[in-house]
Amino acid sequence: MNIRKAVIPVAGWGTRSLPATKNIPKEMLPIYNKPVVQYIVEEAIGAGLEDVVFITNRDKKIIEDHFDYNTQLEVVLERAGKTDMLKEVRAVAEMANIISVRQKRALGLGHAVLCAKDIVRYDDAFAVMLGDDLMFGSNNGIQQLLEVARLERKAVIGVMEVPLEEVKRYGIISGKEISPGVYKVDSLVEKPEIQKAPSRLAIIGRYVLTPYIFNYLENQTPGHGGEIQLTDALQGLADNQGLLAVKIRGKRFDAGNWAEFLAANIYFGLQDPSLHEELEQRLKALMSFGMN
Ligand code: UTP
Repeated sequence: MNIRKAVIPVAGWGTRSLPATKNIPKEMLPIYNKPVVQYIVEEAIGAGLEDVVFITNRDKKIIEDHFDYNTQLEVVLERAGKTDMLKEVRAVAEMANIISVRQKRALGLGHAVLCAKDIVRYDDAFAVMLGDDLMFGSNNGIQQLLEVARLERKAVIGVMEVPLEEVKRYGIISGKEISPGVYKVDSLVEKPEIQKAPSRLAIIGRYVLTPYIFNYLENQTPGHGGEIQLTDALQGLADNQGLLAVKIRGKRFDAGNWAEFLAANIYFGLQDPSLHEELEQRLKALMSFGMN
C-alpha cells in the first residue's frame, strides 16, 4: 500500500478553548516550547509520511507560516550567534512538504476530510491526524495504524479504552478482537449516551483511510451536532470494504480540553532535563500551598 500523505484538519473554531483561540488557532497554542500542530507533523514525518495536507481556513495562515522559513528572524539569530536556535527554526521549515486546502465553511470533521479528496484520491490510502490530538510514547501513534493497514490492506482507525462516563465525548465502536489489540469494526456511533454505547472503545484522532471514504462522505447528511461526521461515513467503509481498529499504545492528550492541555505542558516540561528540577519544585510548592 502506497501511503505518503498525512491530512491534518485544522479548520475548526476551537470554541472549547476560547478566549485563548479568539485570534490564535487552537493548533498553534504552545505545549511547552512548540505549537500543538508541530508535534503532530513530527509524528507524521517520524512514521515516514512525506506530505502534510492541512485543511485550513482564512484565519489559519499562521499554521502554514510556521512550517516555512522566516528569513528576517534567521538573520537576527545568525547575527546574534544563536546557532542552535537558528538550526531549530530552519529545521521546522524543512520538516515537511506542505500542501494546503481551504475548508470554506467549518461543516464538520467529515467535511474537512472530504476537502482533501482531489489531493489524495489516487493514493492507495492516506493518514488523517487531528490537529489538536497529541499522542506520545515509545511507539509512534500513526505508525501503529500504518503497520496494520499495510499488512491487512484495509482502512484502520485508532481507538483507546475510556471510562464509561466519558463515552459521550467520543465516537464509539463495536467489533470483534481478531488479534491482540486489533478489532474488526462492526458499527460506530458518534457521542452515544452511556446506555447506548456498544463498548468503551473510543475513536481517537488517528486514521488510515482509503479513498472509498469519499463515496460515503459525499452522500453524507449532517449527523450529531448538525455536522458532517467522519464517524458516520466510516460505517460505510465498515459495511462494504471492511474497517479495522487498533488500540493505540501510548499517552494521549486532547489539546482542546484544558485539563489535558495543561497536563501535556507539564509532561513536556518535565522531559526537559534543564527544567525538570525547578518545575518539579514549583509544582510541589503549588500543590502544598493550594490556591492561597
Ligand atoms: P474538534 O471538534 O476538536 O475541533 O475537531 P473544533 O470544532 O475546532 O473545537 P471545539 O469543539 O469548537 O472546541 C478536531 C479537529 O478537526 C478540525 C479542528 O480544527 C480540529 O483540529 N476541524 C473540525 C476542521 O478542520 N473542520 C471542521 O469543520 C471541524
